[in-house]
Formats: sequence, C-alpha cells, structure tokens
Amino acid sequence: MLLNWHLTSSCLLLLWLCTSNALCPASCECKRNEKGKRKVTCIKGGMTDPIPTEDMDPGMEILEISAPPTKRNTLSVSSIFQQFKSLEELRLTRSNVHQIAQHAFWGNMLPVVLENTFVNQQQLRYLCLARNRLVKITNTAFLNLTSLVELDISRNKLKKLEPIAFHHISETLQRLVIGGNSISNDTLKTLLQSLHKLHSLDIAAMKLPSLPKNFLPDRISELNISKNNISELTADSLPAQLTRLDVSSNLLRGLNETVVLRLETLKHVNLSDNPWTCNLCHITPILFRVNKTNLFKNLTCASPKILKNVKIHHLKFEDITVCNNLNVEEEQDPIEKSKISLLIGLACIIVLAIFSIVFVVCSCMKRHSRNLMQQQKRAAEAENSLESATAIFSKGEISFKFPLDLTERRMSVSTIDEIKRDTPASVPNGTVGTGI
Ligand SMILES: *[C@@H]1O[C@H](CO)[C@@H](O)[C@H](O)[C@H]1NC(C)=O
Ligand SMILES: *[C@@H]1O[C@H](CO)[C@@H](O)[C@H](O)[C@H]1NC(C)=O
Ligand SMILES: *[C@@H]1O[C@H](CO)[C@@H](O)[C@H](O)[C@H]1NC(C)=O
Ligand SMILES: *[C@@H]1O[C@H](CO)[C@@H](O)[C@H](O)[C@H]1NC(C)=O
Ligand SMILES: *[C@@H]1O[C@H](CO)[C@@H](O)[C@H](O)[C@H]1NC(C)=O
Ligand SMILES: *[C@@H]1O[C@H](CO)[C@@H](O)[C@H](O)[C@H]1NC(C)=O
Ligand SMILES: *[C@@H]1O[C@H](CO)[C@@H](O)[C@H](O)[C@H]1NC(C)=O
Ligand SMILES: *[C@@H]1O[C@H](CO)[C@@H](O)[C@H](O)[C@H]1NC(C)=O
Repeated sequence: MLLNWHLTSSCLLLLWLCTSNALCPASCECKRNEKGKRKVTCIKGGMTDPIPTEDMDPGMEILEISAPPTKRNTLSVSSIFQQFKSLEELRLTRSNVHQIAQHAFWGNMLPVVLENTFVNQQQLRYLCLARNRLVKITNTAFLNLTSLVELDISRNKLKKLEPIAFHHISETLQRLVIGGNSISNDTLKTLLQSLHKLHSLDIAAMKLPSLPKNFLPDRISELNISKNNISELTADSLPAQLTRLDVSSNLLRGLNETVVLRLETLKHVNLSDNPWTCNLCHITPILFRVNKTNLFKNLTCASPKILKNVKIHHLKFEDITVCNNLNVEEEQDPIEKSKISLLIGLACIIVLAIFSIVFVVCSCMKRHSRNLMQQQKRAAEAENSLESATAIFSKGEISFKFPLDLTERRMSVSTIDEIKRDTPASVPNGTVGTGI
C-alpha cells in the first residue's frame, strides 16, 4: 500500500516536473488538473487571433479559453487544433467566435469553407463553445469527432441547424446544451430524433411556448427547460425516462393532479420562479400534496395580491379563494381594480356636480327670464288695463273723477283684477293710491 502510494506520488512529481518544463503561452496557465490531465487555461481575456497553439504542449488534454465578461476575446477557430491528438476537452467561451472554420481566411469577404474543423480530435469528449457568436454550424463541422459525449453550444446566435451536421456525433453524443439560441422548434424536434444516445438536454431560454406531446424522445433523463414561456405542463409531454427536470422561470400558474403525481416520481425537480396562482383552480392539486413531498418546499404564490410571496407550504385550504372566471389582470391586480372604481366614483361625482350647477344656473336664468317676461307682460297689461279702464269708465255707469295720468299709472304694478278691485276702493277718496 505504502509502496504503491510512494510510486504514484513520485510518478506525479515526475509528471509535474515534465509539464513544468513544457511549453506554455505567456497569457495562459499550464498545469495538471486534479485527475492528472494536462490542462491549459487561458482566461485573462483580450486574446486575439491567432490562438497561441505553437506554444502549447502537443500532449495537452484539456484546453480552456475564456475571458471575463468585460474583456472578451476575439477569436476564430480554424483547424489549429489538429496537432493536439490527445485533446479530450475543449472549452472556448466568451471569445466572440463567429464560426467554426477550417481556413485562416476568416474575416475577409470570401465565403468561409466550414469543414473538418476537428478531424483529428478523435479523443475529444467534451466540447464547449458556449457564449460565442456562432451563427452557423455546417455539415462537416463535427466530422471525425468520434468520441464526443458532451457538446455545449448554448448562448450563441444560432438560427438554423443542419441536423446532418450532427450525424457525425449522433452515436456518441450523450449531452447537448443548446439553450439560448433561436432555433425553430421543428428543427429541434428533428435533431433530437437523430441523436440516438442523447439523455441529457438543455433547451433553456428558447422562448418555447409549450412542450407538446412527443416533442422530446423518451430516452431523455435530464431536462432543462428553464426560462421558457411554458404555461402548462402535461404528464404525457414529459419523457418516459425523465429523472431530473428544471422548469424554473416559466409561466406556470398551477399544475394538474396527473402532473403532480408524475413529478413526484422524479429525483430532482426545480419549479421555482413561476407565477403560481394561489386559488382553488390552479393550486388545489399542489395543496393536497404539499406536506407529503419536497417538490413544493420553496415555492411562493405570485397572486392573488393578498397571498403574494406567501410560501405555498404555509397555506391552508381556508386561505385560498375560489376561482371565478375573472380574467387574469383582474385577478392579479385588485389594487388596480379599486383604483379604477375610485376613478369611476370620482368621475360620477364630478358629472353630478356639473349637472347640478348647470341645473341651478338654468333654473335661475329661467326664473329670471320668467320674471322679466312677467314684468313686461304686466307692464303691457297695465297699459291695456288703463285703456280698458278708460273704456269702462267711459261707459259712464260710474261717474267720478279719475286721474288719468299715464305716467303715474305705469309705475304701479297690479293686475286687472286688482285694478278692478282697487278702483272702487279708491273711489271714496276720489284718488288713486299711487298719487304722490
Ligand atoms: C478522420 O480520422 C481518421 C483517423 O482516425 C483519418 O484517417 C481521417 O482522414 C479523418 N478524416 C478526415 C476527413 O480527415
Ligand atoms: C412551434 O412553433 C409554432 C409556431 O411558432 C407553434 O404553433 C408550435 O406549437 C410550436 N411547437 C412547439 C413544439 O413548441
Ligand atoms: C438550466 O438552465 C438555466 C439557464 O441556462 C441555468 O441557469 C440552470 O442552472 C440550469 N439548470 C440546471 C439544473 O442545470
Ligand atoms: C415570452 O414571455 C415574455 C415575457 O413573459 C414575452 O415578453 C415574450 O413575448 C414571450 N414570447 C413568446 C414567443 O411568447
Ligand atoms: C390533467 O391534464 C391532462 C391534459 O391536459 C388531462 O388529460 C387530465 O385529465 C388532467 N387531469 C386532471 C386530474 O385534471
Ligand atoms: C431552481 O432554479 C432557480 C432559478 O433558476 C435557482 O435560483 C435555484 O437555485 C434552483 N434551485 C435548485 C434547488 O436547484
Ligand atoms: C429550498 O431552499 C433552501 C434554501 O433557501 C435550499 O437549501 C433547499 O435545497 C431548497 N429546497 C428545494 C426542494 O428546492
Ligand atoms: C402543511 O403543514 C403546515 C405546517 O407544517 C401547515 O401550516 C399547512 O397548513 C399544511 N398545509 C396543508 C395544505 O395541509
């Protein structure tokens, strides 16, 4: 045992001595990793073409080229890796890589021939080209990558994929990370059907609106569909062999009973960051199981407002409201609703006030004009009555003196009746009350 250990450690020491003497580019770090693999790490950033492959150990097994987010590299990948026959893992991230190209004339206006990029990388098992600017992967990009098990091309600008490009790795690839691209869902479906060994898939951040039945092959056991637009999950859309699922950051508002039971059979599920709607329609199947599984441990309600941020496992059935057929906005925003009713109330009051002011003004004007008309009428009648009075008096039935001063009479306001009544009353004096 001790001898064994001694041998191993001296071997490692020897290897370390060897590697420390080996080539290493100035901007990189070259050492053995914890498994004793020769690893070159260039992560300082700001690298430009060409990648300093001449200064790298031809026996290197792992190459990692990356950069801090603020100091990205600008690189192109041609067939520069051909001399590295032992390369098992290539991580090339945050390096603005546009295309996987063979020829060095990348960057000029000639059409780039994308072929045979990794033809001598039969040992390459892990290839990561995430967070670059790949827009296209052509048919021969993965030719001869006969050992590739993991491919990460997430967060690039890929729109179209030739499923035939993946033909070269279709019998070895076990994990594909392709999230954060804009690949159409039909292309994706075709691709997935051609990768016969694939069991781990990351299609996060692809704006998927749903997960239809038969979209994913049953052999998928690890699935990441985080950051999509999935609003409903059904049990029959989940692959039969699924064990791990990340469906965080989607648009799920509830789960139905069959899905809850299906999810409970999985080893790991992440349901966080979904807009869980805590009413009877959406959350009931979850509430029934909430204290019997760990699935829902950290979930919080997003609506209705009164239950916002309340942990679902603290809820009681009495807490949740019945669901009416109110639309989403109304359900989600009672404050908005009360604001609106307040506004409507205010508007009503204002309209009422305006109406009453108008009414008061109108009736005042009406009364005023009626008074005016009455005044004019009376004035006119007074004149008439005087005329008739003379007429009456001129009949000669009652004979007495009447001061027929028209200017004086006009100042008096009285009806004909009054005049008629007044006239006899003023008879004894022989004068009219208006006399000065
Ligand atoms: C693929 O690798 C083999 C060696 O295993 C080699 O003979 C062949 O030429 C390579 N293919 C291409 C297109 O270079
Ligand atoms: C694919 O997209 C179309 C339209 O964009 C949509 O109708 C269809 O449901 C989608 N299918 C999947 C698998 O998401
Ligand atoms: C799923 O993908 C998202 C987005 O890329 C990432 O943040 C998350 O860590 C992934 N989940 C798992 C379980 O790897
Ligand atoms: C996905 O959801 C986001 C925000 O919820 C929205 O802005 C976007 O338009 C949706 N995309 C699709 C394709 O439905
Ligand atoms: C759950 O949803 C599926 C598909 O939408 C449906 O077939 C099933 O009857 C639902 N189950 C329950 C218990 O509501
Ligand atoms: C679940 O996903 C969220 C958001 O993607 C993440 O923050 C969280 O760490 C994940 N939780 C677990 C237990 O993986
Ligand atoms: C819940 O959150 C705690 C910490 O916030 C974390 O340790 C735990 O793993 C989470 N549980 C689940 C099931 O996501
Ligand atoms: C689950 O248990 C917690 C306390 O452990 C309790 O407050 C809550 O009401 C229970 N939920 C249901 C739905 O029974």
